[in-house]
Formats: sequence, structure tokens, C-alpha cells
Amino acid sequence: MSIELMKKEDIETVAELEKQLFSDPWPKHFFLQELENEFAEYYVLKKDGEIAGYAGMWQMFENCDLTNIAIREDYQGRGYGKELLRFMISRAIEKGCEFMHLEVRVSNIKAQNLYEKLGFIKTRIRKGYYENGEDGIDMVKGLLGLSEEDSCDRKQL
Ligand SMILES: CC(C)(COP(=O)(O)OP(=O)(O)OC[C@H]1O[C@@H](n2cnc3c(N)ncnc32)[C@H](O)[C@@H]1OP(=O)(O)O)[C@@H](O)C(=O)NCCC(=O)NCCS
Repeated sequence: MSIELMKKEDIETVAELEKQLFSDPWPKHFFLQELENEFAEYYVLKKDGEIAGYAGMWQMFENCDLTNIAIREDYQGRGYGKELLRFMISRAIEKGCEFMHLEVRVSNIKAQNLYEKLGFIKTRIRKGYYENGEDGIDMVKGLLGLSEEDSCDRKQL
């Protein structure tokens, strides 16, 4: 397993996965724009040379926003989501961020469990945040005082 910076040639596969995994998928050109965005960082997780997942974030001063994280369906439930999120958190710490924020659908219990496992807490409900009217939950993790080597598990906070 390796985690590498996303490249233009990865976008075709990433956009395919995005369609399979999200009801409101980002189109290819969003990812292309993101690769040009100096405030954004996108990574792919590769297993046996194939893209098995991806994640991205934006940095605005001391805040990082996790924009997306996804693992190919047949690789889910094997710890790759946790690995990738740990990696994104360590990148945010490396870049000097003090907080990592994200939004998640109220119905997405799997993702909420993953985020809570790595120390994110729920801060507010965003009524009707998603295109289908579903509420979103804002979550945040404080990064001050954590080192990149900290494994970021809740029990260590
Ligand atoms: C959310 C997602 C990234 C998790 O990735 P994953 O590789 O399946 O997760 P992991 O195997 O690393 O599991 C991490 C934690 O997630 C939670 N989790 C995983 N599968 C779960 C399930 N079926 N039910 C409930 N919680 C689950 C658990 O807390 C798990 O920790 P544990 O194994 O120590 O109990 C993945 O399911 C996914 O890509 N979903 C579709 C896209 C998506 O919803 N992205 C998030 C948008 S906000």
C-alpha cells in the first residue's frame, strides 16, 4: 500500500470511483482544478499498483478542510480509510494547521465512526446542507500539540 500525490493521469479513475461512491459526485474538471489549486493537496492510496482510494484537503491559514475521502468499495472495511485519514492529518500537522474541519451527511454513520475514531468531534448540524436536503454535521479535530508521528487515535488525545 502506498499514498502518493494525485496526478492528472489518476483523475479518470478517481472520477469513476467518485461516481460509484457518492450520490453527488464531483466531475472530472473539479479534480483537475484542484490539482492546479495551490491551497489544495490531493492524494491517492494505491494497492498493488491500483488506485484503491483518494482524499483531499484545502488549507486556509491555520485551518485545513478535508474536502473528500473515499475507498473503493471492495477495499472498504480493511483499515485503508483510517490509514488515509491518518496520513491527511499528519500532512495538516506538517503544514502547520491547528484545526482540521470536515462535513459529513447525518446518514453516513460509517464515515462518522471513522472520524470519531481519529479524534474528530461533532460541532454543529447544518440544516439541509446537501443537495437532496439532507442535514450535514460539521466535525473538527484540534491539531495543536500533536506531532506528525502521533497516530491521532482518540485515546491518545
Ligand atoms: C467512509 C470510508 C472512507 C471508510 O473507509 P474504510 O476503509 O471502509 O474504513 P476502515 O476500514 O479504515 O474503518 C475505519 C473505521 O470506520 C468505521 N467503519 C468502517 N466500516 C464500518 C461499517 N460497516 N459500519 C460502521 N462503521 C464502520 C469503524 O469505526 C472503523 O474503525 P474500526 O475498524 O477500528 O472499528 C469508506 O466507507 C467510503 O469510502 N465510503 C464512501 C465514501 C464516503 O462516504 N466518504 C466520506 C464522505 S464524508
